[in-house]
Amino acid sequence: MSVNRPAAVIVLAAGEGTRMKSKLPKVLHEISGRSMLGHVLAAARALDPEHSVVVVGHARARVGSHLEEVAPEAVTAVQEEQNGTGHAVRMAVEDLASRGIVLTGTVVLTCGDTPLLRGSTLAALVAAHEKEGNAVTVLSARVPEPGGYGRIVREADGEFTEIVEHADATPQQHGIDEINSGMYAFDGALLSEVVRRLSTDNAKGEEYITDAVALLRGDGHRVGAWTADDWHEVQGVNDRVQLSQARCILNDRLVEEHMRAGATIVDPATTWVDAEVRIGRDAVVEPNTRLRGATVIAEDAVVGPGTDLKDTVVGEGAHVRETTADQADIGPRATVGPYAYLRPGTRLAEGAKAGAFVEVKNSTIGAGSKVPHLTYVGDADIGVGSNIGCSSVFVNYDGVEKHRSTIGDHVRMGSDNTIVAPVRVGDGAYSGAGTVVREDVPPGALAVSEGNRQRNVEGWTRRKRRGTAAAEAAERAEAERTDSFEQQ
Ligand code: UD1
Ligand code: CA
Repeated sequence: MSVNRPAAVIVLAAGEGTRMKSKLPKVLHEISGRSMLGHVLAAARALDPEHSVVVVGHARARVGSHLEEVAPEAVTAVQEEQNGTGHAVRMAVEDLASRGIVLTGTVVLTCGDTPLLRGSTLAALVAAHEKEGNAVTVLSARVPEPGGYGRIVREADGEFTEIVEHADATPQQHGIDEINSGMYAFDGALLSEVVRRLSTDNAKGEEYITDAVALLRGDGHRVGAWTADDWHEVQGVNDRVQLSQARCILNDRLVEEHMRAGATIVDPATTWVDAEVRIGRDAVVEPNTRLRGATVIAEDAVVGPGTDLKDTVVGEGAHVRETTADQADIGPRATVGPYAYLRPGTRLAEGAKAGAFVEVKNSTIGAGSKVPHLTYVGDADIGVGSNIGCSSVFVNYDGVEKHRSTIGDHVRMGSDNTIVAPVRVGDGAYSGAGTVVREDVPPGALAVSEGNRQRNVEGWTRRKRRGTAAAEAAERAEAERTDSFEQQ
């Protein structure tokens, strides 16, 4: 649906959200990889407003810095004290005016705690508002439990006259199941004027934005209530129970969209997909799987069961099972797991394998190369067609600094190898079982460690790692050992 560009979207987010019982401001609580406020702003973005204004108050520094991250286009208006929704809107209007911005055209007003709101619903509200030529159009909904909400009051012929807050309503009005969602389309010029006339003569002693309806109607303007098809969309989140309910609804919606677009989701009830995730056609997501952040699953890939991927790319036809990955790039037809842990900077080229109980960090595993079992690969570059034997360790950390290792193409490392970085293993080289690779291995050579006799170099840490916690601990222990020898 295409509508005129609104002059502004104003998002109310100054309240504390006491019922969340949280250190985190309510609107920053997360659902499907985005804050609730982030979801509202994503819906607002669909309207391409000239200005996005978020009214902040409680924990405003924290909300403000979050906004810089997720919605740099938004500006904030401060509401020092939370004197009601009408007062909050007045703060936004006055803030805009102080920056020389005069609101002409449509202004959309929403709350920061309605994460299920769709951009298309806001667009439909604006279209209805402009078609009717209303001063204000309220987004309403018929809900099974209207308690607590403001009610849409209509005359016998259905004409909308006013909103009455739950606390101010008569017992008869409590029976009305059409509620105010707290979202509106306003004529900007009329809004700027009417917010100066809101009284505090009500149950809460606050300026209610809802009073604008009766005021504008009293001035002879048209007012309307436009009913949302899906009442879930306008559900506000006030506590953690509603937070989890909203999360389930949004997840169901996202999972359904992926299935309709051609992905197989075996068990929607145990599959959690963040809002920005992309899944290709004929990809299969097995049960108990979380796809988070900017994760992308290409066509024909199979992911899960029991997999948690964050900001990870899975290439076409790859298989990833019982795996945890963060910022990993898994190439086409690669295989990962079961029980693999891919940490940031892991790159598996086409057809590569990171098998059972394998951990990889900041490393490249070349095309067709395999790390099949029980191995740690840290800070390594492995060429193409190579094999790393079972139970091997890339020793990348000397206790102070990290170093890289390079394994060439078509290398065959034996089982239980320890590759002590920095070291290079040339193309076509082999190593025997249990080799400790401390020196570069020339191409085509066989590396073996002869004998396994242990030699202790006393006082090494104290001399070579001076000033480290290890050296201090060694010195203490060495001193104690001397004492006990002396006592004997
Ligand atoms: C409001 C509406 C009610 C509607 C309901 C929908 C009024 C008077 N009532 O009631 O008709 O059914 O929303 O959820 O508007 N806020 C501020 N500053 C304030 C007060 C509130 O920024 O001084 C923000 C809150 O952070 C929240 C939103 O406005 O995001 C709504 O405030 P809330 O106190 O939840 O309003 P309700 O009493 O639920
Ligand atoms: Ca509310």
